[in-house]
Amino acid sequence: MTDLIPDLRAPSAPEGTGRVKSGMPVSRVDGRAKVTGAARYAAEHAAPDLTYGVVVSGTVAKGRIKTIDTSAAEAVPGVIAVLTHENRKVKMRGNDLAYKDMTAPAGSPFRPLYSDRIFYSGQPVALVVAETFEAARHAASLVSLTYDVEEHDTNLLANLGRAYKPRPLKAGFTPPSSKGDADAAWDAAPVKIEAQYYNGVEHHNPMEMHASTVVYGEDGHLTVYDKTQSSQNSRWYISHAFGLSKDKVTVRNPYVGGAFGSGLRPQYQLPLAVMAALQLKRSVRVVLTRQQMFSFGHRPETWHRIKLAADRDGQLSAIVHEAIQETSRLEDYVEVVVNWSGQMYACDNIKLAYELVGTDRYTPIDMRAPGAAHGVHALEVAMDELAYELKMDPLAFRLKNYAEKNPLEDKPYSSKELRQCYQLGSERFGWKDRPIEPRSMRDGEELVGWGMATGMWDSLVMVARVSAVLHADGRLVVSSAASDIGTGTYTVMSMIAAEAMGLPMERVTFQLGDSTLPLAPVEGGSSHVSTVGSGVAGACEKLQKTLLKMAQAMPDSIFRKLQLRQVEFNDGRIHLRGQPDNGVSLSEVLAHAGKDRVEEKFLLTPQMLKQRKYSRAVHSAVFCEVRVNEKLGIVRVTRVVNAVAAGRIISAKTAESQIVGGVVWGISQALHEETYTDHRLGRFMNHNYAEYHVAVNADIHDIQVIFADEDDRVVSKQLGAKGVGEIGIVGVAAAVSNAIFHATGKRLRTTPMSPDKLL
Ligand code: MOS
Repeated sequence: MTDLIPDLRAPSAPEGTGRVKSGMPVSRVDGRAKVTGAARYAAEHAAPDLTYGVVVSGTVAKGRIKTIDTSAAEAVPGVIAVLTHENRKVKMRGNDLAYKDMTAPAGSPFRPLYSDRIFYSGQPVALVVAETFEAARHAASLVSLTYDVEEHDTNLLANLGRAYKPRPLKAGFTPPSSKGDADAAWDAAPVKIEAQYYNGVEHHNPMEMHASTVVYGEDGHLTVYDKTQSSQNSRWYISHAFGLSKDKVTVRNPYVGGAFGSGLRPQYQLPLAVMAALQLKRSVRVVLTRQQMFSFGHRPETWHRIKLAADRDGQLSAIVHEAIQETSRLEDYVEVVVNWSGQMYACDNIKLAYELVGTDRYTPIDMRAPGAAHGVHALEVAMDELAYELKMDPLAFRLKNYAEKNPLEDKPYSSKELRQCYQLGSERFGWKDRPIEPRSMRDGEELVGWGMATGMWDSLVMVARVSAVLHADGRLVVSSAASDIGTGTYTVMSMIAAEAMGLPMERVTFQLGDSTLPLAPVEGGSSHVSTVGSGVAGACEKLQKTLLKMAQAMPDSIFRKLQLRQVEFNDGRIHLRGQPDNGVSLSEVLAHAGKDRVEEKFLLTPQMLKQRKYSRAVHSAVFCEVRVNEKLGIVRVTRVVNAVAAGRIISAKTAESQIVGGVVWGISQALHEETYTDHRLGRFMNHNYAEYHVAVNADIHDIQVIFADEDDRVVSKQLGAKGVGEIGIVGVAAAVSNAIFHATGKRLRTTPMSPDKLL
């Protein structure tokens, strides 16, 4: 069952890769497939008689659809059907629960083409299906609608007064807590700051458009290629929404062209493609446009107020962080942006508060380091402000308030090598030469500034099953329904298995991206290595035990009565530890047992009892240099050093790439990214690459990554690893903001820090 699925095309390392060890810089095993085009993405899978669906997007923010005229569209040659809420024949279930994917927040999930209700501008209102993509696209432009428009409101800042507390029990999140009396301590303190911060809406812009190709099998079985961070989440959603049994739907995502949150929840092209396939009994592909990608979730707009206070010697005495974020009217999307502010610095008086405002937009969705990317930005700019009030070096101020244990929970950290990050990062950057005064460095036309910030992200572990199969020809196939959204899952899992079994890496294939594989969580929250990776190590250890037992059963076995720790697995052999010649090949072991394969399965669950005693997180120290042209308001981030403590690093090259990618996104968040709303229309206006700016190569200069030496056996007993997907972005925008202050003396408290704000 968990042997290789042929058309998944799971990649392996090239011949000659040889033995690998944790911490080695191994090139990604899927690299060749990706650059040669052999890797197929969701919209690249073929099917006989494939039809093409194009989504028609609504144009008002709230109300009801009064009329839909599809006649002109239906008259276009090649058009097969125009699906609307009025004419769809496929039954959709009526209860909210049926539409809740595994990551859904509390509330009532949006259902495309369910009724005439309009919840947000850009909502899908029809699907045109045709024999060709061109016919479908043209016909989609001919669908005309009229609406009964209702008054909408998309303005967070104008509605802070009607913010409400989300209900933690229903939404399953940790509510912000407090200790001491932060307001009183702030009032009494000799040195303090108070300020408001704001982060604009950001939208995901992965290279691969969201797409679903539904292959309609002869028996009505659906094989769905979906752009998702979990094939099993999409499978679950389809089964529930359309009342299809589990064995009627297989979802696959062997290659994903970036996602980082945008693929956590099934997006609307998936149910639309399935709906069309079920109605037409044909294969259907639906690809969203770049513009439509701005209509299914975003990093929410965030307003903060922070008050910090300290004694004259720089000891923090009060931290107050209140934040209000937007959500939709449908669901309570919650990312508790303030929670990190209670974990980062030692302080006796902490007050955190978090509220939501419902607006007539689509529900926000996780984006790289959801919550921390905005929350830590505000806190770390505020920390810089207080350091300047104290006339203290910003790094010295942070070291002075170093939290040896989690101040809110009063628990030790499972591991925390942040001090090492500060030291290694500042040395590499040359921080000690920094003059403290703003506007003290200049290079030609440009002011130069150096800023720093701390980063923090949770260390999550979820539940996963992993299968490991050793074949008689010496090939190892390891499987789990994990995902590789570009982060390096194929590579790191292959490395873990190859190292554990002592095999050359090219003899190992890690197979992911199919909902029929063993259970895996969504690829989210930087948890795949600690979860699936630990599961791979666990499965390999079980396999070794089984192989040892099989070797012990051979005639005159030298392994009799030996324990696993007394033997070694090396290049397809099992031998006495330290004695490579005293052993037997695994092929012989299998042959003696009369087997052509041996399989072991492992269930990885978090070590709950142990974990509960600790606070678990990854940490980082970000140092950055900016050059500011004051005449033009242009900021260049010319140098970044990001020192990260994330447990043991398994795959040094892909881990470094993750951090570099996070820094690039952080620079983009700091300087470029914001989706602007015209509140009269209730609509995101710059929904394209021309007007939604992301950092490009010309914006990116020197980025250096350092990993601290750390080993965390509470988070991962098997690997000591924590996870690096999200931490790379956290703190970057704050470091840029603080560097801009150092360069110019101008304090910017919002993102993005676009030229208009500097002039
Ligand atoms: Mo991440 S925002 O959990 O993909």
